[in-house]
Amino acid sequence: MPDDLPLAGRGCIVTGGSRGIGAAVVRLALAQGADVVFGYHSAEERARALADELRAAHPGRRCVPLYAQVADAAEAGRFAAAALGHLDRFDVLVNNAGVTRDTLFARMVPEQWHDVMSTNLDSMYTVTKPLLMPLVKQRGGAIINIASSSGLHGIPGQTAYSAAKAGVIGFTKALAKEIGSRGVTVNAVAPGLIETDMTAAIPPDKAEFLKSLIPGHAFGSPEDVAHLVCFLASDRARYITGQAIEVSGGLVV
Ligand SMILES: NC(=O)c1ccc[n+]([C@@H]2O[C@H](COP(=O)([O-])OP(=O)(O)OC[C@H]3O[C@@H](n4cnc5c(N)ncnc54)[C@H](OP(=O)(O)O)[C@@H]3O)[C@@H](O)[C@H]2O)c1
Repeated sequence: MPDDLPLAGRGCIVTGGSRGIGAAVVRLALAQGADVVFGYHSAEERARALADELRAAHPGRRCVPLYAQVADAAEAGRFAAAALGHLDRFDVLVNNAGVTRDTLFARMVPEQWHDVMSTNLDSMYTVTKPLLMPLVKQRGGAIINIASSSGLHGIPGQTAYSAAKAGVIGFTKALAKEIGSRGVTVNAVAPGLIETDMTAAIPPDKAEFLKSLIPGHAFGSPEDVAHLVCFLASDRARYITGQAIEVSGGLVV
């Protein structure tokens, strides 16, 4: 395995790859030698532009964008089957797609609770279920679930999101124990505050306050998260499983 290509020959499936952290993972995985199929939901043009750019930058590697609705089991199943069809081999699943619907619990309406739960937590079932057996039968691979500092510590205004992301971490630990003997690792990555569309919605005064809580007084970049995801996807992390690793610049230490 060349030092700069730790994912050489690996087939990766990434949900929510059109923007933000997912797009950074797609970009870095390609750069590290992987073939990648990634999901988009609303941002089709952005997803196609990213795939065109990466195929041009990495001739011979596969980079395929596919429509995915991870909140729906039938749609997620279609995405998973189509994704497998585009890969010669499948080694890595990154469950990244997610949404926030921030509001105080007292004001939360059922749709907000449901959107957050279905996209962030139900997707652990809908996407992982059809993709698990290929990894188990192969006796090797990695599943990386994107959680959040919110799921580890709880954040006011994010009761549904904190609950969903805590669920992602519980799912990760239990599945790691179920399939560890098959050589498949399962880990969660918990970003803190990362500069993407998701955090762009935070009002400037609140963003400044949040930055003051971080030792380096700055939000992280999507690449800061992608580096850990790609490390966990590689053989270098073969003895790491069942962990929830925070990438938060020390937001909580
Ligand atoms: N940014 C942060 O500070 C932060 C912190 C902690 C955790 N996270 C987590 O990191 C992950 C990525 O977040 P981000 O900041 O990169 O968010 P983002 O920029 O808002 O991107 C979200 C991604 O998820 C996709 N997506 C949303 N709903 C979907 C659905 N129902 N089905 C399929 N795909 C869907 C979007 O696809 P389209 O663009 O095509 O609609 C997009 O690719 C999420 O799980 C998020 O909860 C982010």
